[in-house]
Order: sequence, then structure tokens, then C-alpha cells
Amino acid sequence: MTSLLVTRIGELVTNDPETGEGPLGVVTDAAVIVEHGRVAWVGTAGSAPAADTHYDAGGRAVLPGFVDSHSHLVFAGDRAAEFEARMAGRRYEAGGIRTTVAATRAATDEQLTAGVARLVAEMRRQGTTTVEVKSGYGLTVRDEARSLAVARQFTDETTFLGAHVVPPEHADDPDAYVALVTGPMLEACAPYARWIDVFCEQGAFDADQARRVLAAGAAAGLRPRVHANQLGHGPGVRLACEVGAAAVDHCTFLDDRDVAALRDTGTVATLLPGVEFSTRSPYPDARRLLDAGVTIALASDCNPGSSFTSSMPFCVALAVREMGMTPAEAVWAATAGGARALDRDDVGHLGVGARAALVVLDAPSYRHLAYRPGVPLVVDVVGG
Ligand code: NIG
Ligand code: FE
Repeated sequence: MTSLLVTRIGELVTNDPETGEGPLGVVTDAAVIVEHGRVAWVGTAGSAPAADTHYDAGGRAVLPGFVDSHSHLVFAGDRAAEFEARMAGRRYEAGGIRTTVAATRAATDEQLTAGVARLVAEMRRQGTTTVEVKSGYGLTVRDEARSLAVARQFTDETTFLGAHVVPPEHADDPDAYVALVTGPMLEACAPYARWIDVFCEQGAFDADQARRVLAAGAAAGLRPRVHANQLGHGPGVRLACEVGAAAVDHCTFLDDRDVAALRDTGTVATLLPGVEFSTRSPYPDARRLLDAGVTIALASDCNPGSSFTSSMPFCVALAVREMGMTPAEAVWAATAGGARALDRDDVGHLGVGARAALVVLDAPSYRHLAYRPGVPLVVDVVGG
């Protein structure tokens, strides 16, 4: 058995209040012992037991790997021109998804796999060690199933999002498309998926259709999560809470009943500030949610349309600057919050027993993630 001592950690974020100070469980002058890929011991460097190998963090800050609980990495094509048009004043519309659908259907499995590999590697370089990946740019039985088969090569956190938008060939009969999604498509996709998702929004699926999708997914053994309240107010957040979704994502337009439902059910509100940045839209009010006692996750929503960033540090910086979160709240939401959104207790923290995924920053403190926006601070990822 080989043990690894990570030592001379200037500031360690454990997210374990029993291990360190405050909600982030911060330990200064810290050390961690890793055995069998798990955290076996956490404490001060001076009191660390012996180990077979050493890693010298050189006084830098170390935190748990980011848990990016929302991404759409299986796609082909490019929508830079759409982004450029938006920056010149055009509105973001859900219908842009269809551009990516056409390119994705035309791509080979190898092209799709290479695209995911590139983005997963890009994420890891920026400290993401757990990622959820959705389908949703295939929208046929074949293309959704192969999207999920590709995603599964990279993560167990795969989500069937056949109900992303109604594809053009079903435009005149959306209910027939819902029947396809909840029937043959679900059957072909369920073996590769852990989660079922639906975009419940004007221009995508209404509450009744979304309920049917989530119920069919649950009957096939998939757990619900929902895209909702991105472009306007609507029933999606309350529906997600009602069906016991682990998370409801976007949450940009919320009324008081939505906030109360999130608080009362414990459904995680996953905020995706890369979307508001890239669509030049108002940011969600994280402060209102935190003050109400709602659990928040931050995720990238990495996709070619509304948020083509893979960077969790960028999302942390946006959450602090634009959404009223403190650096500590944002870092928690990007790590432990993401783990909650995926209902995982082995990631997002560095307490004893956690999966050992340690991100080393070229900075003395986690605060620098927001304080030094756009700077590649992640210098190493240990384990994961
Ligand atoms: O999460 N909201 C729906 N789906 C994606 C957008 C995808 C796209 O524009 O291609 C999202 O933002
Ligand atoms: Fe999304």
C-alpha cells in the first residue's frame, strides 16, 4: 500500500466544519494523507504521520476538486456567430439549440468523443474533478443514445435530456415528440444514464409535458433534475421541487413561492452565471436564495450556445462579483454544493473518507479565485 502525504498546505479548504474553521472547514499550515485514493487523515503539517511519498504544496492553497454538476459536452459545431450577434444586441433564444442538433447529428461517434475528451481535459486543468454531462443535442433515439454512450466513457454522472427542445421534424406535434422521449428514446438511453432532465421553459416544454418526461424517467430508474426559470418566470422550479429533484438549474427568474419551495424541499438551486454572462442577461439573485436558506450549487453549463466556458474559477468569480455571494459561499457552492446537486457525499469535500481530489492554487487563499479573475491559478490537481 502506498500512502501520499500532501504537506505544507498554506490554507486547506476541507468543507468539513468538524475538521477546520467556519463553513469551509479551513485548516492553515495543513497536511493531508491520501490512501487508496481516499483522504485518510487531515490535520496540521506539524502533526502529520509518516507516509511513503510526499507532495510539497509550498504554502499554496488547496481545495477540493470542483464538482461541475451541469454541462452539455456532447456536441459538434460552433455558435460563435450567434454569440457575436448577441453581443450586438440580439436576444438569446432556446431555438439556437437546433443549430447544434443539426451539427451533432452529422458528426461521427469519434468526433463527438474527441470533443468531450478535449473539454473534460480543459475542465480538469481548471480544477474540475467531477462533471455531469447531458445528452440533448441528438434528439433522435440513435443520436441521444450514442451521445450518452460517449458521455459514459468520461463520467458516471450522465443525464438523459431528450426533452431539451422539440426538434424540427416534430415541430407540428410536440406531444408526439414527448411520446418518443418517454418511450423508445428513454428505453435506449436509460442504460447509459443516471439522471433524467427536461427544459421546462416557454419555447421548450410546458409543465404537463415536463411532468410526463420526469415520471417516465423515474419509472425507468432515473433520478430527476430540471432546467427551469432561465428565460422567464414559470412552473419549472416548483415542479422540480414537487417531484423531489436533486437540483433545479438556472433559477434566474424566481417568485416568492419558488424560493419557499426550494427552501422547504431542499432541492438544490444550481446557478449558472456563465449563461447570464454569455447571453448578457440579468444574473440570478443568489443572496435572496442564501438568505432564505436555500442550498446553492454553481456549475458551468458548458455548452456551445448559452455558456461556452468550462471554467469553474470563472463561475466563482462571476458569482462573487455579480450575484452577491461571498468568496467562501461561492467556493462552497462550486464544490460541496455541486456534490449535493448530484447527491454525492464522496466528492466536494476533503474530510476523512472523501475521494482524494485536491486542487492546488498558485495563491495563498481560495479568495484569490474571485480576487484574481481570469488568471489560471490552478497549478496542479492531485488524485481525483
Ligand atoms: O442550459 N437551457 C437550455 N439548454 C442550454 C442551452 C443550450 C444551447 O443554447 O445550446 C442551457 O443553457
Ligand atoms: Fe443546461
